[in-house]
Amino acid sequence: MVSCKSVYEPREDSTMLEKYVRQCAEGKVLDVGTGSGIQAIAAAQNKDVTSVLATDVQKGVIEYCRKCIKNKKIKFIQSDLFKNVKGKFDVIVFNPPYLPQELKLKDLTLEGGKKGYEVIERFLNEANEFLKTNGIILLVFSSLTRKEKVEELIKNNLLDFEELEKQRIFFEDIYVYLLRKNGLLKKLENKKISSIKYFAKGHRGFLFTGRYKNKKIAIKVKNPKSEAFGRIENEAKWLKRLNKNRIGPKLLFFDKDYFAYEFIEGDFILDFIKKSNKIKVKKIIKNTFSRLFIMDKLKIDKEEMHRPVKHIIVCKDSPHFIDFERCHYSQYPKNITQFCQFMMSVEKILKNKGITIKKPELMELAKVYKNNPSKSNLKRIMGMI
Ligand SMILES: C[S@@+](CC[C@H](N)C(=O)[O-])C[C@H]1O[C@@H](n2cnc3c(N)ncnc32)[C@H](O)[C@@H]1O
Repeated sequence: MVSCKSVYEPREDSTMLEKYVRQCAEGKVLDVGTGSGIQAIAAAQNKDVTSVLATDVQKGVIEYCRKCIKNKKIKFIQSDLFKNVKGKFDVIVFNPPYLPQELKLKDLTLEGGKKGYEVIERFLNEANEFLKTNGIILLVFSSLTRKEKVEELIKNNLLDFEELEKQRIFFEDIYVYLLRKNGLLKKLENKKISSIKYFAKGHRGFLFTGRYKNKKIAIKVKNPKSEAFGRIENEAKWLKRLNKNRIGPKLLFFDKDYFAYEFIEGDFILDFIKKSNKIKVKKIIKNTFSRLFIMDKLKIDKEEMHRPVKHIIVCKDSPHFIDFERCHYSQYPKNITQFCQFMMSVEKILKNKGITIKKPELMELAKVYKNNPSKSNLKRIMGMI
């Protein structure tokens, strides 16, 4: 009899999940973290299942399964989550290690990271790519994993969830969840956007990245919790308007709940300033002023230019503005004057680069520009840099 001490012996969580695998499995099934192979076997026994790919990060587990389980429908491979997995599946099953390391069990089959949800997080960030449009995911976790956090991670990945079962086992609750792609995700995939991945959370929206026509793109999605109304439409509208003047990342398409634009890869302005030489820094600052002048002329106020740390990305030696959430029409736009404020606030960093900002003079020139936003007054400001 072959045995392997790193094989997870089926417990309550395994049998809870197994029940739903028997009920729901069909077509192509992926069993992630197969352990003893209990879920793979349950799936394969369902006549609606054509094939099962069972994976585990541990080599010993895969060797054990290959020796002990002989079923023509099941193939076992070693893989850290989806690393060696190819194709799309109707059903993805995962009974992950989900306990926090704080419990100090030092066991790969049980511990999901410091907080307990880290392996689930990695799994959810990638699962969509391996799930067919109408496919389902069956996921187990515990109250010790933090239910609200797991639900947040699920939603962040544009998935809907349903609690299939909850059982109190000694000191914890065990949950079995069924996840599906939500309407927005299906809509984005319909647009032929692939590899959609959660990227970051803003005040009013979530940012995803994806691939479209072989290029990396960004997708800004409305945060369902945000009270702010029409923000997505507003930002898309300004981007479209500013793109005509070659400002902002190129808008690709939009709807009321999202918009997609080219992804700008580069350094945030302060990081760029810190790592670049004087000539390059001067060029970027002047270029930024020129673009902001165009916005002033168009009477479009971008706002936040006094602290544009996360709003200007330098890519291929040229500044790109991002985030037009607070953009609006204004009779007296403050783009240039705010950027002058920023220059003064980073005076020391600029000095390290050999660029001296004479604060009182720049302040005075900003005032003159405010009263008369002309090109010659802009030139006087740029002359200070
Ligand atoms: C809780 S056990 C579940 C085993 C079995 N599926 C069950 O339901 O009884 C978790 C399994 O996931 C595997 N595992 C842990 N981290 C993994 C990862 N990053 N990728 C794939 N498998 C992983 C472990 O080796 C272990 O076999």
